[in-house]
Amino acid sequence: MPEVKRLICLCAALLFVLPANAPAEQNLHQAAIASAHPLATRAGFEILKKGGNVFDAAVAVSAALAVVEPSGSGLGGGGYWLLHRADDGFETMIDGREKAPFAARRNMFLDGRDKAIPKLSVDGALAAAIPGMPAALVHLSERYGRLPLAESLAPAIRYAENGFAVGHKFLKLLKTRQQAVRRFASSSRIFLPKGKPPELFSILRQPDLANTLKQIAKSGRDGFYRGDVAAKFVKSVREAGGIWTGEDLESYRAVERRPLKGDYRGIKITSSAPSSSGGIVLIEALNVLSGYDLKPADDTARKHLIVEAMRRAYHDRALYLGDPDYVAVPAERLTNADYAAGLRSSIRFDKALPSVMLAGETELEPEAANTTHFSIIDREGNRVAATLSINFPFGSGFVADGTGVLLNDEMDDFASSAGEGNGYGLVGGAANAIAPGKRMLSSMTPTFLENERGVAVLGTPGGSRITSMVLLAALDYAEGHEPASWVKVPRFHHQYLPDAIQYEPGALSEAEIAGLAAKGHRLMSLPERYGDMQAVLWNKKTRELSAGSDPRGEGLALVGP
Ligand code: GLY
Repeated sequence: MPEVKRLICLCAALLFVLPANAPAEQNLHQAAIASAHPLATRAGFEILKKGGNVFDAAVAVSAALAVVEPSGSGLGGGGYWLLHRADDGFETMIDGREKAPFAARRNMFLDGRDKAIPKLSVDGALAAAIPGMPAALVHLSERYGRLPLAESLAPAIRYAENGFAVGHKFLKLLKTRQQAVRRFASSSRIFLPKGKPPELFSILRQPDLANTLKQIAKSGRDGFYRGDVAAKFVKSVREAGGIWTGEDLESYRAVERRPLKGDYRGIKITSSAPSSSGGIVLIEALNVLSGYDLKPADDTARKHLIVEAMRRAYHDRALYLGDPDYVAVPAERLTNADYAAGLRSSIRFDKALPSVMLAGETELEPEAANTTHFSIIDREGNRVAATLSINFPFGSGFVADGTGVLLNDEMDDFASSAGEGNGYGLVGGAANAIAPGKRMLSSMTPTFLENERGVAVLGTPGGSRITSMVLLAALDYAEGHEPASWVKVPRFHHQYLPDAIQYEPGALSEAEIAGLAAKGHRLMSLPERYGDMQAVLWNKKTRELSAGSDPRGEGLALVGP
């Protein structure tokens, strides 16, 4: 009912009356948006200026990122949108995670000897799960937005039609996935014009993607999951060796889940619920750390404790977590303070606990930069933290012919064979085994932090390292720092298996490396810095907004009217 929504919007814009019992954070005079691409941030402000609320802006930013940052997310992928509505404090998470097609089978990526067939769950149509992003955007707009969906999608449609200038990050990531993209004429036509990556700052137009966006703008979810567009997906995927059916598409629904809640030293944490592991791993690790005073600890001792907390939380991830519609996830137990106290009792100050004491070992696979995140607070104090993905950079590399939609390779986030790591070296068990119609476990960790100082909205891409990055940022927030600091915190990571501290160049000093090794830690220096955190903060005391975009990326954080 676009007319009704437009009317509501007009009334809101004209009257702009706060209810008597409005929480103090309403009427901030300004809004803050941080996203991984300047055009996406600008799309969000464009929609806010048209009278949209934060949820309309989130639709605009998500759709814009799908066009201008196809390496990280897109209509062919999925994600999680964590929402906070200021006037009644309502919070929810939209789970738009992809689902396995109904014809998927537990062993579909294994050879006759139960070994994973290289690349099968990463490159091409079989690696693609049923996308959730379009359904989630329609849901977000219809349930929570003020503007018609077509208006919120307009900036993305314009970017797809008129094109955008290809940047360094796009080219760098495309080069890592060129082989997969090149396999498909439908993909090469868009991303490898003239048979090679486009020139830096050349204009990339995506007319087929613009048409698919227009179909969604016109017909809502039917514009993607039924009719002509859906038929093109099924035909193209099946011709390329995939297993999608019309029923897979037609039956896809985004669902709402209650966000995970925790508390760290007086900071209220609100984060992603399963089918993402993010919230549980974050809260579990912070619960473990809440038993220590990290401030007076020397740098090595502090990092040792953080690593030991990460090790145990990621261990539970591998053991217990999966799609809550398919497996019983013990979320309450894992996020319980007494449970964390039990974990703490196995932590020694002088010695790392080898992960092999918890379970067996697997080899590390190279990490890929992927996924995207944006954070918004609007002038009414509404918030969205959204982390979106098509998994590996440029997803499966496969564009469904005639749709312009690059499909995800999120099937790789399932545990294909027990104990064998996925593309991020993450292991998982039966809880995250492939099953028809099931959502694969994610690490995406869109998060709100709140205490008497302020309200923070944050998150980042980065595969298995997403949650540990948010953890480090939360600790930085707890120390009183600003978004500009959280987004550039030097990063280190432990995910239980492989049993090693992974760290970006410069994140650990020589003394820390020696000190951690002396405690028995294996250290693994990474070739490059990782992550692309986007964060905003409303400071309750100064009533000011601030925002930070990761200096490792090319994003834009803006505070404005
Ligand atoms: N595809 C990355 C994640 O969901 O964790």
